[in-house]
Amino acid sequence: MANIWQRKADHIDIALTKRVTMAKSTGFDDFDLVHQALPEIDLADVSLHMTFLGHVLSAPILVSSMTGGTERSYEINMHLAEAARELGLAMAVGSQRIMIEDPLTCPSFAVARTVAPNIPLYGNLGAVQLNYGMGVDAFQQAAEAIRADGMFLHLNPLQEAIQFEGNTNFAQLLSKIRILADHLPVPLLAKEVGSGIAPEIAVALAESHIKGIDVSGAGGTSWAHIEGLRATDPARQRLAEVFANWGIPTAESLALCRGQLPGFPLIASGGIRNGLEAAKALALGADLIGLAHPLLEPATHSTAAVIEVLKQFIWELRVAMFLVGAIDLETLKSRPVVKRGCQ
Ligand SMILES: Cc1cc2nc3c(=O)[nH]c(=O)nc-3n(C[C@H](O)[C@H](O)[C@H](O)COP(=O)(O)O)c2cc1C
Repeated sequence: MANIWQRKADHIDIALTKRVTMAKSTGFDDFDLVHQALPEIDLADVSLHMTFLGHVLSAPILVSSMTGGTERSYEINMHLAEAARELGLAMAVGSQRIMIEDPLTCPSFAVARTVAPNIPLYGNLGAVQLNYGMGVDAFQQAAEAIRADGMFLHLNPLQEAIQFEGNTNFAQLLSKIRILADHLPVPLLAKEVGSGIAPEIAVALAESHIKGIDVSGAGGTSWAHIEGLRATDPARQRLAEVFANWGIPTAESLALCRGQLPGFPLIASGGIRNGLEAAKALALGADLIGLAHPLLEPATHSTAAVIEVLKQFIWELRVAMFLVGAIDLETLKSRPVVKRGCQ
């Protein structure tokens, strides 16, 4: 059986060398923002500043959870955090389970806080671990190790079901999530990892005192596919391929969750690949846009490479806002989003 260290290293290797994006669409192509031939604003005045859970950001972007605990992850997290610091963005580290099991891996997570003392930084652990011996102490330890401003609780039933070593007992987690949210000294947020969150789940999480949700919908990184590429037996490979496109498309998950939870902090991630898609997601109700896979490869090179990708993304978002006459994110959120063909 592969150990957790090997599994984490496999995930990064596969995500860097194989095509891991779903064939399914995020759904953002089905939506259009309405072009304003007379935007009545100066592009130079468009502001992306915003506040998320009390933290001021220069743009509504979260560098999403990816890694920690392996050989390469120290450098990856360092480059991601330095880029977030330079651009005034938020960041989350990858699952810290490996750090709880092997404290020697702590520096590969903590480096993010060392190089970026003032960014909003979030930790990450799996919700299912609440059924495998982890409690408030482990989450608190993970948060303290990186002086986290909050903890992401990842919900990944598809990945665990496909993984050979998967932890599949997801029974009665909600009541444990509520206890955790009530006792953790920092805000607890929930996220999927690429299969989306249905509105009734979002409501149940909000009622369990979760402070924010990243829908992380379908259309981006496919964890079934990644686990299928790790699998060695043909039956498991076949299982993975059957579920390779499983999940609620990001745009749909976001719009449905926003419909049920007005005013609740929502993050959109899962296949958002340019600033125009980000603008659509913000107009559909996202407060923040999460990006994971597009930043992985640049993060293996340098901080400058990560900054270049993010600057391009921000430029595209800024132009989209200009073209709908939105001088700030509040105005963008009030702009209509139309279903293609219904304009
Ligand atoms: C290489 C890689 C590793 C990831 N590791 C984690 C993780 O440890 N914890 C987690 O909650 N999500 C993890 N994710 C999921 C992302 O945070 C994100 O929810 C998902 O990939 C969708 O965003 P994307 O399409 O921009 O990649 C990982 C994603 C990638 C690409």
